[in-house]
Amino acid sequence: MGISIKNLNKVYPNGNHALKDINLEIPTGMFGLLGPNGAGKSTLMRILVALMEPSSGKVDICGYDLMKQRKEIRAILGYLPQDFRFFAKYKTYEFLDYAARLSGITRKSVRKQAVDEMLENVGLFDVRDRYANKLSGGMKRRLGIAQALIHHPKVIIVDEPTTGLDPEERIRFRNLLSEASENDVTIILSTHIVGDISSTCNCMALMNKGEVSFYGAPQDMLKQAEGKVWRIRVSGDELHKVDKLYPVISTIPLGTGWEVQVVADEVKGYDAESYPPNLEHAYVYYMENKLNRWTND
Ligand SMILES: Nc1ncnc2c1ncn2[C@@H]1O[C@H](COP(=O)(O)OP(=O)(O)OP(=O)(O)O)[C@@H](O)[C@H]1O
Ligand SMILES: [Mg+2]
Repeated sequence: MGISIKNLNKVYPNGNHALKDINLEIPTGMFGLLGPNGAGKSTLMRILVALMEPSSGKVDICGYDLMKQRKEIRAILGYLPQDFRFFAKYKTYEFLDYAARLSGITRKSVRKQAVDEMLENVGLFDVRDRYANKLSGGMKRRLGIAQALIHHPKVIIVDEPTTGLDPEERIRFRNLLSEASENDVTIILSTHIVGDISSTCNCMALMNKGEVSFYGAPQDMLKQAEGKVWRIRVSGDELHKVDKLYPVISTIPLGTGWEVQVVADEVKGYDAESYPPNLEHAYVYYMENKLNRWTND
């Protein structure tokens, strides 16, 4: 089971090479796809859900060949696109009923039960008569995941579902996904919020500019940054110098000067103290290290 991606490339008609020879093994459970804007996350997801064809490469989803068995794959897939919108004419329960019909639940009584259960599950039963486009941002996102889960898919692909949600809604959303991942299901969650990955995924990939720059457990990415985060105390004048020398993660005013946290292999010329990294530091370290932006000059 799971997903296997081999030598996957996507070149858009305008020449944009959005995916460059991607190789990934995605096991069952929650898989995090982390990366900055333009990394290629949505492109990869649109290919996996058979909405767009790759330029080259091979993808196997739960034993089905993506290029030859698109229909079979669509039947076992749930997808929440990044820019999911609702038609104005549907009430919340009508929308979910419509989604259930699209995903092949034809019998009305079966559908009613599935819709009611799902509304209950995502905490929208009380607002089921409200027009979907009048729901709050968090509620809309929950209705979005409800339509992706309604037919109990084996593979769930959600594209940046937590962007713009308050912390409580983000946790709620993550928990909904975690619950769905319990039954041998593969979930791919794309995000640029490091915290979403560290709290839910055992396995992840970091994408940047169409390439996979890290693949493994979040803890392994964390290990990369051990001994690479530093705390430096500097005066106001020196702050600008440090800023040019190293990637700065945080700057705290101390009254007499500044405490600056930076990521670097080593810090020269300053009285620096090593600091335990978190996944966000590891992300910055990994991206900067790969880009080599700070070590070349
Ligand atoms: N339809 C398109 N035609 C041409 N280029 C595109 C198209 N869609 C995306 N791209 C380009 O492909 C690259 C990857 O875009 P993509 O949307 O997959 O990134 P992303 O990781 O999802 O970014 P974000 O975090 O902003 O959603 C970018 O350079 C983008 O400009
Ligand atoms: Mg995207």
